[in-house]
Amino acid sequence: MDLQLQGKRALVTGSSSGIGEGIAKGLAQEGVTVVVHGRNEKEASRVVQEITADGGKAFVAIGDLATDIGAEQVVDRVLSNLGAVDILVNNAGVYLLRGWMNSTPSQWVELYNINIVSMVRITLLLVPQMRELGWGRIINMSSGVATQPTSTPDYSATKAANLNLTLSLAKELAGTGITVNTVSPGSIVTPGLNEIMLQIGFKQGWGTDLEQIKQYMLQGMMSNPTGRLGTVEDVANLVTFVSSPLAGYINGANLRVDGGWVSTIN
Ligand SMILES: NC(=O)c1ccc[n+]([C@@H]2O[C@H](COP(=O)([O-])OP(=O)(O)OC[C@H]3O[C@@H](n4cnc5c(N)ncnc54)[C@H](OP(=O)(O)O)[C@@H]3O)[C@@H](O)[C@H]2O)c1
Repeated sequence: MDLQLQGKRALVTGSSSGIGEGIAKGLAQEGVTVVVHGRNEKEASRVVQEITADGGKAFVAIGDLATDIGAEQVVDRVLSNLGAVDILVNNAGVYLLRGWMNSTPSQWVELYNINIVSMVRITLLLVPQMRELGWGRIINMSSGVATQPTSTPDYSATKAANLNLTLSLAKELAGTGITVNTVSPGSIVTPGLNEIMLQIGFKQGWGTDLEQIKQYMLQGMMSNPTGRLGTVEDVANLVTFVSSPLAGYINGANLRVDGGWVSTIN
């Protein structure tokens, strides 16, 4: 299937690692010029080098999206190099393992700023040029915990907000040629999730063998009908399709890629 992505331009936030890295590589393989973003320049440059070595086109933009100035820095670099972007993947985010009673109000505000306001910043800066193009794709990275909250209440709540703002933005951009969708992964093996699994393993007294901890997790809180944890390619394949012109009638949707982990119909 020709996804008709050849020559398009994408910014994937948080693509110096994990799911974002997988998405950047997936889009580059389809002929998209990709901006690899993060705060860690060394890691972002590694991803660019790997994409280039594979015959793709990519460059780095560094900036902390938790600040206005960091977001402006990223968008300035993107627009001065590419003129415009057709595809924005709002993927950057953090997750933290803390319960209701041991998180402070300021920690809630901080996490909301990183996981939600960051994507609002970039979206507000890039939507005007997408409107001028008369075409665009915005994909916001949420999580299965948005609709099935777990023991991470503040993180889960940020991901629920993500679903809500996706739909209101899709309505705001009616008739512009821009679609806005959410992708909600389940448990995807990344450096970020590995760190969380090691913390859980430590608390549970399961030792420090990550492969062993993964097996325990699969029998417990990450149990799903597919019987395995997800890969970054599982998410990248979906995002690549939703980015394409072929996905023009998918709009305002929450698309799950979780092996069946969320136990609701929609
Ligand atoms: N892995 C999972 O199981 C899973 C499941 C559901 C949803 N998700 C979501 O998927 C996204 C990616 O997760 P992941 O597992 O791939 O995480 P990861 O490996 O920890 O990568 C996170 C990425 O976000 C960037 N980032 C974080 N805070 C940032 C900030 N303030 N400014 C700029 N960049 C920032 C990091 O960049 P630097 O390190 O360069 O700063 C990194 O590139 C997150 O939104 C997460 O909530 C993950």
